[in-house]
Amino acid sequence: MDDEKAISRGVAALRGGGLVILPTETVYGLAANAANARAVAKVYEAKGRPAFNPLIAHVADLAMAQEIAEFDERALRLARRFWPGPLTLVLPARGTGVSDLARAGLDSVAVRAPAHPLSHALIRAFGGPIVAPSANRSGRPSPTNFLDAIEETGEFAEAALDGGPCRIGLESTVIALLDKPRMLRPGAVMRAEVELMIGPLAEADLDASRSPGRLSRHYAPKLPVRLGAVTPLRREAFLAFGEAPARPHVWNLSPSGDLAEAAANLFAYLRAADRSGASGIAVAPIPDEGLGEAINDRLKRAAGFVG
Ligand code: TXA
Ligand code: MG
Repeated sequence: MDDEKAISRGVAALRGGGLVILPTETVYGLAANAANARAVAKVYEAKGRPAFNPLIAHVADLAMAQEIAEFDERALRLARRFWPGPLTLVLPARGTGVSDLARAGLDSVAVRAPAHPLSHALIRAFGGPIVAPSANRSGRPSPTNFLDAIEETGEFAEAALDGGPCRIGLESTVIALLDKPRMLRPGAVMRAEVELMIGPLAEADLDASRSPGRLSRHYAPKLPVRLGAVTPLRREAFLAFGEAPARPHVWNLSPSGDLAEAAANLFAYLRAADRSGASGIAVAPIPDEGLGEAINDRLKRAAGFVG
């Protein structure tokens, strides 16, 4: 099916209150009309997600974002620098374009303009914001290719857009600009890049209800995960980084030690290792610089440590 046809099917599904699987540059999302609370309820149901976990409203551009959120000077600066792209801004909510349910009753709203041409085209053709949490069932790794997305929540979707593997493979960076600027979730846009634009970022406060994406078991495979492992134990699967022997049960996140490549492979390899019949998943140490901050954040969650 060509892209144009897939997009018009997607738009029809959204208008009818149905769900759509869509690719973004970060991970696949499960989308619904943000203004339609019944459609949003279907997203929570499909994911098995607690209703207090607010969703990101995805927009085509800054103008669409300004209809649902209040932008101050800092927010404008970040949006102009990083959109379309993997940065989500949590801002004071405005108007009725995003249902209360999608905001989980908060008076703030998370917004982002995705860079993937298919998600951009779908939002543009639909003509308003769509919510799109990652297309996994709650507590599972985010899908980074079409088949994984279909396997997770495809049965709940009326339309699905195939954009191939996701370029980035990690969810967007979430920055709240409510009181002082805070990083709620590290992601593909790095801390240093944001701080260069608006100054130092505070950590998320510990009130988990404000960003439940930080719950410790959010990105959890079924097998136990052991971090910082230099060599795997006998029955463990191994996610290597840098030089490593090519062996069964070894998935190398990046043979050349490239963090962007490791991010793009992370969730798919966690899934593969989880299915391998091993006793657990050992993961090589990943440097905590640049994109490594987001990778290590997801790995700590996969291992069940509080983040
Ligand atoms: O890359 C991404 O952001 C992907 C793709 C599909 O766009 N989407 C995604 O959505 O990761 P989701 O729903 O899995 O993660 C949304 C994150 C959660 O950590 C949530 O708690 C936080 O954003 N969030 C949403 N609205 C918020 C708000 N009003 N205040 C604080 N955190 C919020
Ligand atoms: Mg998610």
